[in-house]
Amino acid sequence: MADRRDHRVGQARSDHPLKGTVTRPRLAVLISGRGSNLGALLAATRRGDLNADIRTVISSHADAAGLALGRDFAIESLTLDYREFKSREAFDAALNQVLQEKTPDLVVLAGFMRILSAPFVQHWHRRLINIHPSLLPRHAGLKTHQRAIDAGDRVHGATVHLVSERVDAGSILGLASLMVHPDDDPERLASRVLTLEHRLYPAVLKALVEGAFIGREGLILERLLPELPLVRLHE
Ligand code: GRF
Repeated sequence: MADRRDHRVGQARSDHPLKGTVTRPRLAVLISGRGSNLGALLAATRRGDLNADIRTVISSHADAAGLALGRDFAIESLTLDYREFKSREAFDAALNQVLQEKTPDLVVLAGFMRILSAPFVQHWHRRLINIHPSLLPRHAGLKTHQRAIDAGDRVHGATVHLVSERVDAGSILGLASLMVHPDDDPERLASRVLTLEHRLYPAVLKALVEGAFIGREGLILERLLPELPLVRLHE
């Protein structure tokens, strides 16, 4: 196996054609509500477990509790209220423009309750990451905990994946699993999965930023992605 130490963040491979200024990867985190995954990422950066610079938090909802969390960490926290836009495309174009001004290396969806249109996803191809509360490809979409219980699943969990044009279907970067207990209801199961999500997202982003480097054109993920081990966690 190739020695990965020579292309970690801070140590760009000297032979790579895109080698350039190497800094901590810049992250933009997109939220819509509570923001507990954002909180876990902020805590991981503060502890030094995740060597990334969360530059911007953007919420699609003005009343998202997560905005206060970003501000507590002195991070620029903006609202782009989806209701003020006539169409999904108009919202996505405005979001894209704000993001391009912030120049993030990775755009991290953390409870962002909007389906993103194809041009947006294409623009951020391989730099757009999401966390989903099920073991994909099982239970894409909503109400995942209820559906896991209804289906009699014995194992459930969460997935971190690249965002592709098909919802909840991009390449899987990390999985966290747990056993469903006979007395789990959707709320209890959601809470147990959420605790796992808070471990999984920082762990996947850590693996990503350590397995990549920043060239003149931003974080180089594409060629290194196959070399990254899948992050796996269990309750
Ligand atoms: C999480 O369960 C996440 O997997 C899903 O939305 C929820 C967001 O929770 N995409 P929070 O806002 O991070 O607390």
